[in-house]
Amino acid sequence: MPTLLFGKNALNGLKNFPASRVAVVHGASLSEDLKDKIKSAISSFEVIFIEKSWGGEPELNTLKDSLRRIELFKPDVIFAVGGGSVIDGTKMLRAFYEFPYLNVQTRNFNMLNFSTRFIAIPTTIGSGAEISSASVLYDREQKLKDFFISHSFIPEIIILDPRFILDAPDDILFSTMVDAISHVVEGYVSLLDNPVVDIYAEKALQLIAENWEVFKTTRTFESAQNLQFAAVLAGLVQNHCIVGAAHGLAHQLSSYDFSHSSAISMVLKAVISKNAENPNVKRKYEKLASASGIMDGVDGLNKLIEAVSVASNNQKDRERFKSLLNTIFKNDVFFSNAMKDKGAKGNPLPLSESFYKEILYSI
Ligand SMILES: [Fe+2]
Repeated sequence: MPTLLFGKNALNGLKNFPASRVAVVHGASLSEDLKDKIKSAISSFEVIFIEKSWGGEPELNTLKDSLRRIELFKPDVIFAVGGGSVIDGTKMLRAFYEFPYLNVQTRNFNMLNFSTRFIAIPTTIGSGAEISSASVLYDREQKLKDFFISHSFIPEIIILDPRFILDAPDDILFSTMVDAISHVVEGYVSLLDNPVVDIYAEKALQLIAENWEVFKTTRTFESAQNLQFAAVLAGLVQNHCIVGAAHGLAHQLSSYDFSHSSAISMVLKAVISKNAENPNVKRKYEKLASASGIMDGVDGLNKLIEAVSVASNNQKDRERFKSLLNTIFKNDVFFSNAMKDKGAKGNPLPLSESFYKEILYSI
């Protein structure tokens, strides 16, 4: 469990953190003002800012430019400031920087005993990458997402400072919020059941349900802070419980150039409805809804997902997705990969080709 610094000026909690050479890896949209705030919050000899060299999903090849800069600079502290793509890619940068002989084919990452300290500042509300033991690399040739697991990937400190999200565009914030909801919902009904994690899930969903509309209309500090906290709780749920079929489908939709969160928002409701055909799973969804103050069980959950998806304004993606459905149905690799997906193994019902096809068909 990392240290959480949260609330107004959370960044200033770094004042006494020992840091000599700091590399800040970030996405394209980090403003000069926020860069200055990071710089003045840390006491260090030198800080450099490295804009990530990879696109949407980190890939082995596209990490190389950023890695070269890290190797030249030799930081003792690495920051990842961004959404899931930045944070996941930075986990791998740090791994290759400290262990250049690392062979990703070995799949065993438990030996990574890092000496570089790692701090994450999420700029979205939902990826959960900041609290995840997984780092993800996209393998373009095999159209597969590779998951590398080590608890050492989890940052030492997570900074939830509302200033890093208040100016972000609606489409990013609300689509990642749907991803956070998916971590809660899929984790809650996962085969890996844990009553402590259930409490995190219920609280996370309650915070999202109570704050998303206020945040949409007025973007208050308080609503931003509550949603950032909810996203970390949702990430904890995902990290412990392993998610389900919505993630199995969304990971495959990367090969059609849909972002993770947009893909999740297109399939999540259909996955919930399909899983809810099983009465035991339906009861769990209903328990989650009522414990989070959401009326009408599965319908209420799906209404919340729909409303937040609409706020994410991804209508173009939805239309493109629908026009691609026929092609996807004929893509055998899509379904065989989705069945093997390690990130979907928690789904309460077995993941078969026909199961996935029925979900897509219902969409
Ligand atoms: Fe996700």
